[in-house]
Amino acid sequence: MKIQMEIYNLRQIDYFARAFSKLIKPPMVILLEGDLGSGKTTLVKSLGKYLGFDGEVTSPTFTLLNVYEGKFPIYHFDMYRLSSMEEAVAVGFEEYFDKSSLDGVSIVEWPENVDGLFKEVDFVIKIEKVNDRLRKITVTEGKDVTCN
Ligand SMILES: Nc1ncnc2c1ncn2[C@@H]1O[C@H](COP(=O)(O)OP(=O)(O)OP(=O)(O)O)[C@@H](O)[C@H]1O
Ligand SMILES: [Mg+2]
Repeated sequence: MKIQMEIYNLRQIDYFARAFSKLIKPPMVILLEGDLGSGKTTLVKSLGKYLGFDGEVTSPTFTLLNVYEGKFPIYHFDMYRLSSMEEAVAVGFEEYFDKSSLDGVSIVEWPENVDGLFKEVDFVIKIEKVNDRLRKITVTEGKDVTCN
């Protein structure tokens, strides 16, 4: 299944996050694809809010992983600074993508950088910045995902 949407502002991405958050339950792996500045962290901020986390969601660019305690643990990854699956395994990230033991939901920015790490993916959300106003969001359900 694939759903596409046009997003014109922050309010619309927040609205999408509210609806999409209803589909999220542990254990789940969600990949966020999109260029620099396309709005991946912004989406996670809204998802965190609707999944019951009332603290601040920040970009894990330097920490690589932020953990938020909402209705369940939310593991927010940014793989931007990694360049292979082996690097992610070396820092102990493999267990967050093993659904047989995962106790929360793993949400990943820059999954392309660690190709091969994800064995079971529930959703891929791709954000494309078409121009300054318009973003296109494509949601693909895991069973159709070919990159995992
Ligand atoms: N739907 C949107 N409408 C308007 N502005 C947006 C939207 N989404 C994000 N932005 C703005 O774009 C900028 C970059 O957003 P964000 O940091 O979420 O991108 P990112 O994809 O996480 O970037 P990076 O690749 O660096 O991690 C922010 O200033 C944010 O407010
Ligand atoms: Mg980001």
